[in-house]
Amino acid sequence: MISRFAPKPGKEDPQKRIAGTEAASYVRDGMVVGLGTGTTVYYTIRTLGQKIKEEDLNILGIPTSLDTRNHALSLGIPLTDLDKHPVIDLTIDGADEVDPALNLIKGLGGALLMEKIVASATKMEIIVVDPGKLVKCLGRGKLPVEVLRFGHRSTARRLDHLGLKPSLRFDARNTPFITDNNNLILDCLPGEMEGPAEMERNINTIPGVVENGLFIGLTDLVIVGEENGPKTLKRGED
Ligand code: A5P
Repeated sequence: MISRFAPKPGKEDPQKRIAGTEAASYVRDGMVVGLGTGTTVYYTIRTLGQKIKEEDLNILGIPTSLDTRNHALSLGIPLTDLDKHPVIDLTIDGADEVDPALNLIKGLGGALLMEKIVASATKMEIIVVDPGKLVKCLGRGKLPVEVLRFGHRSTARRLDHLGLKPSLRFDARNTPFITDNNNLILDCLPGEMEGPAEMERNINTIPGVVENGLFIGLTDLVIVGEENGPKTLKRGED
């Protein structure tokens, strides 16, 4: 299988497919496009591959993970990087939680670092989700924090002092999960956060933290895949 985020045969998720496919319609000829990571944006990437083949769509993609890179290349999507194109026209990505102000928690797929760099370098960020990702307040589930291997237990203690109950992420083989950037992930349990922007800053001041999964003020549009069609939420409309 090219992508670990691909649906199992016969197990397509209609809501994710509706959101992911709709987002591809925002991509125009000549754009540099940030390509997110996960099971929802999987459908966007698949649709972009079809459009390149069938409609001669001409784009350059910037992938946010090795998985997305391999998936895009397998579909014939030409790729570039941020060194050649430091400003991205449009990025499409998934999320784990979306609040009414369109702030996010991301990183359950382990790609939050490159996703955040790409989201910060893009003119427009579109997030694709199924309705289960919408929350009133961020912090319902895990908040992933990417940390250096060096001193990770000390880093975890500092996160614990913030009340975040960190635990080291393991992969399916029961060895520590290693990110594409050769770091570790500490999954935190913040509980519902009144001040996610302050939390984002506080976490990132801890030495050893590389980045955390709070994406504050980076999203322009959210496409929610509802069973009867896509619904869009724009920043500033809550
Ligand atoms: C990858 O690290 C994540 O940030 C994903 O974008 C996020 O977990 C959403 O993934 P799904 O679309 O698979 O739920």
